[in-house]
Amino acid sequence: MTQPIVTIRDLSKSFAGVRALDRAQFELLPGEVHALMGENGAGKSTLMKVLAGVYRKDSGEVLLDGRPVDIESPRAAQALGIGIIHQELNLMNHLSAAQNIFIGREPRGRFGLFIDEEAMCGEAQRIFERMNLKLDPRTPVGELTVARQQMVEIAKALSFDSRVLIMDEPTAALNNEEVADLFRIIGRLRSRGVAIVYISHKMDELKRIADRVTVMRDGQYIATVPMATTPMDTLIAMMVGRQLAEAGHEMPDTSGNEVVLEARGICRGTMVRDASFVLRRGEILGFAGLMGAGRTELARAVFGADRIDAGEV
Ligand SMILES: Nc1ncnc2c1ncn2[C@@H]1O[C@H](COP(=O)(O)OP(=O)(O)OP(=O)(O)O)[C@@H](O)[C@H]1O
Ligand SMILES: [Mg+2]
Repeated sequence: MTQPIVTIRDLSKSFAGVRALDRAQFELLPGEVHALMGENGAGKSTLMKVLAGVYRKDSGEVLLDGRPVDIESPRAAQALGIGIIHQELNLMNHLSAAQNIFIGREPRGRFGLFIDEEAMCGEAQRIFERMNLKLDPRTPVGELTVARQQMVEIAKALSFDSRVLIMDEPTAALNNEEVADLFRIIGRLRSRGVAIVYISHKMDELKRIADRVTVMRDGQYIATVPMATTPMDTLIAMMVGRQLAEAGHEMPDTSGNEVVLEARGICRGTMVRDASFVLRRGEILGFAGLMGAGRTELARAVFGADRIDAGEV
């Protein structure tokens, strides 16, 4: 059997009385994309932040290559080859991509007086090439799209020679095409033996990218199962701790309720074309779609924040 890169046993962590992790378990194999699933507050981010040295554990064990380790800081995690990409980007907009990657550890020229920009950009370029990413290392990060900023974060994690790469909801701000780019990079890293932890609420993405999935609930470990052969319903039932049909019964039937808001044929600029919906008393109505689908634009138009070109509310 392959030796896991990471093994987490009985890990507990509380924040001022809130038990975020309750004897959590986790195992990560080399070259796998391992999804971490669970409802909001299940403890996914906390577990990964312990692994990445952001939080100290209260109790339990973290093993790297089968040996117990104490990961006391993000720096210690980096030294061990564990990189994390947080959902919030942590880049300096006025600095270049290369400067962001090597901040605080820039290669120096003779006598260590000056930063060797040439060497730094060359090194950044090599990482980009490994990712098959076309990006000028001298570009200020503030001029990049969010997706490209994310790529710079990944490059930064790779610059530490990460064998373990944790991505906490990496696609929240990406459009379809950018997600495809990210997945290509993940595929390339996986084939080089990098183990990836992928946290997301997007089921379709997880199905596409993950080899195995660990489900958490209330800070506890529920199960680790293969992604391809586990039906979605089973995963959801594990996450919520009951069968879906049962969960469905808790939803009141609102189909006969009075209509409180209706939009008909709303058009606004190029983003919103002939959009209609009905909202009834007691309902929560969701607008679903990819980045750029026009959800925000529709909401703004209905609210009166932007002028409507056609249609009525
Ligand atoms: N820094 C903190 N201080 C206090 N409580 C925290 C802190 N971080 C997390 N928690 C609590 O710990 C629990 C687990 O949170 P965590 O962020 O790990 O969940 P999650 O699974 O990542 O959820 P989400 O899907 O919403 O990101 C929650 O009850 C949360 O409120
Ligand atoms: Mg989280």
